[in-house]
Amino acid sequence: MNLLLYGAPGSGKGTQANMLRKHFGIPHVATGDMLRAEIQAGTPLGRQAQPILAAGQYVSDDIMIGMIRNRLHQPDCASGFIMDGFPRTVPQAKALDSLMKALGKPLGRVIYLKVETDELLRRLSGRLVCPLCQRTYPPATASCEADGGALVQREDDKVEAVKPRIEIYLQKTVPVLDHYRGEGLVSEIDGRGTIEEISRQVLAAVNGTVTPRGRTA
Ligand code: AP5
Ligand code: MG
Repeated sequence: MNLLLYGAPGSGKGTQANMLRKHFGIPHVATGDMLRAEIQAGTPLGRQAQPILAAGQYVSDDIMIGMIRNRLHQPDCASGFIMDGFPRTVPQAKALDSLMKALGKPLGRVIYLKVETDELLRRLSGRLVCPLCQRTYPPATASCEADGGALVQREDDKVEAVKPRIEIYLQKTVPVLDHYRGEGLVSEIDGRGTIEEISRQVLAAVNGTVTPRGRTA
């Protein structure tokens, strides 16, 4: 099963991907997490990417497409994956189409988590992350459930980076949704509600059912 989580910054992609990862036992492929791991390790790519992420801008399509190509060829992706944060531009979406075709892996469903801007801003300003494993948590969470690590604010959740992140999403990433709508792959989920309520709708959409608050396009 190859799934794609789509939505604005703070819409809950990482949160729901973590649920799907546990539920289906397939890897969570998150380009933002991969870039932050490069930054933490101080690699040449990490050094190049750090100021781009801090400013809320996008890393180049060439770099991101190469990164995903390498990741999807790894053996743990053979039985499926949950993609989060890619594709973010129409050229990335077209490159993913070609890659999936070459790998013989059709995309099963695109889950669109639709959340209003006010709610995105509220969530991002309070979000905590584990610097060790990258999992995200709501405000006031004490420590990471996986490794007990102390939680921190993400550098790009500071106010000066949040506005450009939302602007670039509207400009470059919204057209990606039309790309997938055209293929009839999109399930739109109203992102209001508790994490557990959204998880139920996401699972229903993945399992191909229509729920009262979500609709399968
Ligand atoms: P990335 O890490 O992908 O960031 P993002 O898309 O901005 O999304 P976020 O991780 O901020 O939000 P999310 O949707 O995962 O929400 P979460 O579950 O954490 O990318 C970071 C950067 O890397 C980009 O800006 C770019 O620079 C670069 N990059 C990455 N991929 C790239 C690409 N393909 N091309 C070019 N550049 C790329 O939830 C947010 C908060 O809300 C949490 O605190 C959570 O607990 C809470 N929450 C979740 N659901 C609910 C709910 N239902 N109710 C209340 N709170 C909730
Ligand atoms: Mg995320």
